[in-house]
Amino acid sequence: MYQSRSEVRLPMLRELHLVVNGKAHESHVEPRLLLSDYLRHELGLTGTHVGCEHGVCGACTVLFDGQPVRSCLMFAVQADEHEVQTVEGISAGPEDMHPLQQAFWTTHALQCGFCTPGFLMTLLPYLEEHPSPSADEVRHAISGNLCRCTGYQHIVEAVLMAAEQMHQESPARA
Ligand code: FES
Ligand code: FES
Repeated sequence: MYQSRSEVRLPMLRELHLVVNGKAHESHVEPRLLLSDYLRHELGLTGTHVGCEHGVCGACTVLFDGQPVRSCLMFAVQADEHEVQTVEGISAGPEDMHPLQQAFWTTHALQCGFCTPGFLMTLLPYLEEHPSPSADEVRHAISGNLCRCTGYQHIVEAVLMAAEQMHQESPARA
C-alpha cells in the first residue's frame, strides 16, 4: 500500500555519549544499531571484525569498561555513558606494539589475521589478571575465540611469551 511521505515513519534516534579509545563521542543512532556496526561504520574502527554475528567466534571482542564483550551481541545504545576500547586503542602503531602484539608477530600467531583483534582484546585483560598462566590455562582463556588458520598452538606460545615479557618489564605483576 502506498504511504505518503508524511506517513513514512523514520526510525527514532537515540542520543549516545561514550568514550572509545580515550576519545569522547556523541552520536544519534538507531536503537537497533549493534555496537560492532557502530564502531566499524560510524567511527571507522574496522579493526573490530565481525564473523558470525551470533556471539560464537569472538572476532568482534572489545573491552567494555575494561571487560571483554562481544560487540555483535550489544546494541550501541547500551554503551551510553560507558568506555569502550578496540584493538586500535592498544598501541599507536608498529613501532609501539604492546608485548602481546609483538609476541603474536614473533611467534607467527596469525595467518589471515581475521581473528587476531578478538584474541588480543580477550587476552589483554586476561594477562592483567593472570600474569603467569600455564599453557592449559591459556587454552582455556581462548576457548571462546575461533581461529580457522593457526591451529592455536602459536597463539598459546605468543601468550606465554607476552606474559614473560610483561613480567620482565614489570616484575611486581607476577
Ligand atoms: S562476530 Fe561477534 S562473536 Fe562472532
Ligand atoms: S589467523 Fe586466520 S582466522 Fe585466525
